[in-house]
Amino acid sequence: MASILITGGTGLVGSNLCNLLKSKGHNVLILSRSKTKKTNVFHWDIEKKHIDNEAIINADYIIHLAGAGIADKRWTKSRKKQLIASRVDSTNLLFEKVKELNPNLKGFISASGIGYYGAVTTSKTFAETDSSGNDFVSEICKLWENSVNQFNTLQIRTVILRTGIVLSKKGGALEKISNPIKLGFGANLGTGKQYIPWIHIEDLCNLFIEAIENNNLNGIYNAVSHEHCTNKTFTKTIAEILNKPLWLPNIPSAILKFILGEMAVILLEGSKISSKKIELTGFKFEFPTLKKALTDLLK
Ligand SMILES: NC(=O)c1ccc[n+]([C@@H]2O[C@H](COP(=O)([O-])OP(=O)(O)OC[C@H]3O[C@@H](n4cnc5c(N)ncnc54)[C@H](OP(=O)(O)O)[C@@H]3O)[C@@H](O)[C@H]2O)c1
Repeated sequence: MASILITGGTGLVGSNLCNLLKSKGHNVLILSRSKTKKTNVFHWDIEKKHIDNEAIINADYIIHLAGAGIADKRWTKSRKKQLIASRVDSTNLLFEKVKELNPNLKGFISASGIGYYGAVTTSKTFAETDSSGNDFVSEICKLWENSVNQFNTLQIRTVILRTGIVLSKKGGALEKISNPIKLGFGANLGTGKQYIPWIHIEDLCNLFIEAIENNNLNGIYNAVSHEHCTNKTFTKTIAEILNKPLWLPNIPSAILKFILGEMAVILLEGSKISSKKIELTGFKFEFPTLKKALTDLLK
């Protein structure tokens, strides 16, 4: 049994991960911006550089998930700053506190995103050795990963999971994509040819646990399922599972760009991402195909 401190443990991935870790007998501690009297929930204030010391001292491992939601609000100048600071300043603060209070931490595991490679639609399959893209989300991921890599200087095992779109029953992207289809108003976005790298939430949580329990995991891994699918396939598979018709024409890119501004790029572009590296470690996906994942989540 290990004591695992999770930042962002109240979020979509974090809350599922906490439950799974507890069911496996681990002691789970949460670091949150909210002040609460709940046991095992500790407070931090990133701007004020405050973390309840106990949280750091008692942790064997840290899983870092905290970050303002990338697709929650339009990317204004101040929102962009917040998206970066909530990930990078938080990692820097964790690093300073670990260095001071718990330099023998056994591992630091952090989320990152497949947005690292840039939002482009190409025939290329991106692997961990590929360089970063040139857009805003790649910039976030690059800065985030650089801050995480500081933990290597303390000889702490560091794992970064470049995560695809997380599919879950409640919340997250799947709810947003499947709701209009449920109502009979589903449509492909833009050309529909852009890839959507995805992962079932259960596989992602298992992967975080693997990163804790398997000392051989070190460095960067793409956390995506190995079945590549386009926006068109994705929409069609949901409609088939829900037994709903798809009759509307594609939603034009220009409309999405008008509504969402620069953020539209995350819906309109996407390439294939390789899961080879994590699979070569022996990790087995419970939901390797989109049909299996969506049937589990939507039925
Ligand atoms: N979900 C996906 O499809 C997906 C895909 C790729 C990468 N990721 C990354 O994986 C991580 C977890 O994803 P998720 O879907 O679980 O996210 P989420 O549901 O939005 O939860 C993130 C958590 O971060 C904390 N947070 C929110 N705004 C913050 C801010 N301004 N400063 C500091 N902390 C803040 C919140 O915890 P408190 O309120 O308790 O502080 C929140 O519960 C995120 O960093 C996300 O970027 C997610």
